[in-house]
Amino acid sequence: MTKRILVLPGDGIGLEIVAEAVKVIEALKQDGLDVEMEEGLIGGASTDAHGEPLTDETLERARAADAVLLGAVGGPKWESLPIAIRPEKGLLKIRAGLELFSNLRPAILYPQLADASTLKPEVVSGLDLMIVRELTGGIYFGQPRGVETMENGERRGFNTLVYTESEVERIARSAFDIAMKRGKKLCSVDKANVLEVTEMWREVVERVAKDYPEVELSHMYVDNAAMQLVRAPKQFDVMVTTNMFGDILSDAAAMLTGSIGMLPSASLDAGGKGMYEPIHGSAPDIAGQGLANPLATILSVAMMLRYSLNEPAMADRVEKAVEQVLDQGLRTADIYSEGCKKVGTAEMGDAVVAAL
Ligand code: IPM
Ligand code: MG
Repeated sequence: MTKRILVLPGDGIGLEIVAEAVKVIEALKQDGLDVEMEEGLIGGASTDAHGEPLTDETLERARAADAVLLGAVGGPKWESLPIAIRPEKGLLKIRAGLELFSNLRPAILYPQLADASTLKPEVVSGLDLMIVRELTGGIYFGQPRGVETMENGERRGFNTLVYTESEVERIARSAFDIAMKRGKKLCSVDKANVLEVTEMWREVVERVAKDYPEVELSHMYVDNAAMQLVRAPKQFDVMVTTNMFGDILSDAAAMLTGSIGMLPSASLDAGGKGMYEPIHGSAPDIAGQGLANPLATILSVAMMLRYSLNEPAMADRVEKAVEQVLDQGLRTADIYSEGCKKVGTAEMGDAVVAAL
């Protein structure tokens, strides 16, 4: 049966990088990939057109699709809008609306890019870790939230960090399942020395661990985890953590690999439906100039093939094609080093298609 992909380029470089990923999907269609693509608006582009960053109609189309390919959202043009209609809200609405609770953020160092990392090569060479970030709960969504004026006229702002046991259990299972398919090591990151909710998180993870006796489980406080990530990142295989800790740690992990422009992500529901997007943002400073690195988005297509479209062989092909263009010495500006050939967004996308 033909699978349906909803393509949401979003804002800024989102448009350029998604165009290259679409080229890759088109090329795979020639080789028998049975998918149909349709486009929609999200983020500032949707706010401009409809007054909100994600319409219910687009959310419905996402529900009806088998997978969503997303570029990036946001930009200075929309930064002064109220939080409720800012581009980022569109992203949060689609994550919540599709119940994409499990966010997989791999950080892989390509040997060809070892020089691009700011860390010493011996610290990062061979790095291959996976952060599993809880994506639809925690402080991002907790109630109550807001800013109120107290009796004395002073304002008071508040957000709530809340998890139910079932929310922790399902993200823990998701992480253990992934650990089983990788190096069978899982580190759960919390702040159990201070926050009750994450003390409970730790207990639930321990409980789930009983169903995965082969996985070596450890726990780490988030401050230490941040330090260990830059000190000795290769000690980690899979990390699982809350929404906000995962947001922060995944940016740090991304930079270990040299460029956030290389890293894909998958956000999955309980049934295999997923949204796929590069980890990086909309990079307004270089938008529209054909400079952005499309590889993170193209690698997100590989994750889509693997997790939602059940085409692991095609996923391998896409990942190999990316390695091949790196071997050829092609580099966008963000991963450029001397002796390589600097290329633009479209040239990079075309090279991947050729390598396929
Ligand atoms: C991310 C981003 C988003 C987040 C923003 C854009 C809402 O930083 O996907 O990591 O905080 O989740
Ligand atoms: Mg982030």
